[in-house]
Amino acid sequence: MFEGPFSESIIKRAQEKGLVKINVTNIRNFATDRHKTVDDTPYGGGAGMVLKVDVMAKALDSISDGYRILLTPQGKLLNQEMVTQLSKRPHLVLIAGHYEGFDERIREYLVDQEVSIGDYVLTGGELAAVVVVDAVLRHVPGVLGKEESAKKESFSNNLLEYPQYTRPEEFQGWKVPDLLLSGDHEKIEKWRQEQALKRTKEKRPDLLTRKDCLSQSGSD
Ligand code: ADE
Repeated sequence: MFEGPFSESIIKRAQEKGLVKINVTNIRNFATDRHKTVDDTPYGGGAGMVLKVDVMAKALDSISDGYRILLTPQGKLLNQEMVTQLSKRPHLVLIAGHYEGFDERIREYLVDQEVSIGDYVLTGGELAAVVVVDAVLRHVPGVLGKEESAKKESFSNNLLEYPQYTRPEEFQGWKVPDLLLSGDHEKIEKWRQEQALKRTKEKRPDLLTRKDCLSQSGSD
């Protein structure tokens, strides 16, 4: 689940350039019995399995200290501001369970923060961890082509990105707005700001009133 995303494109190049180091640790390697058990049935009964606290503690002991994030739908919703804050930390430890619950003591004693990537349930935290890695990495200087490119995009002022066009000027009768072809950069800049605001009002009016999230850079 990690190999594909971490060995392609920007995340791959960031590692090659030595801008980031990504290690994947399999908690199964820290099971203590010969069946490599990492989960068990819940005390008190009920369906499902529960990830064991002792195995998790051993796995965490095996890696150097970092800010520990448990990926779970119970966590705080990931947003651009949180991504920016996380990107300032030198070492993140992302903890993902698969298709089961966590022993509550993992949450209570072993983790610094719980993070959710959205109000839906995935089969495990792995994909959520990949999302965190991707979003955080774009903030590491040198990872994106120009550092500027992160700053200028959507969300840099709590607004969505303005509409963009490229050649051809006309396709099947669908035209690029004349103004963009005019060469009048002042007018174009004004139009873009207006469009960004209009678009945000239409598509995501919640962003205009929310203070908690989009104060930093991001993407579309
Ligand atoms: N694990 C399962 N669902 C998740 C979600 N929405 N966010 C983070 N981790 C999860």
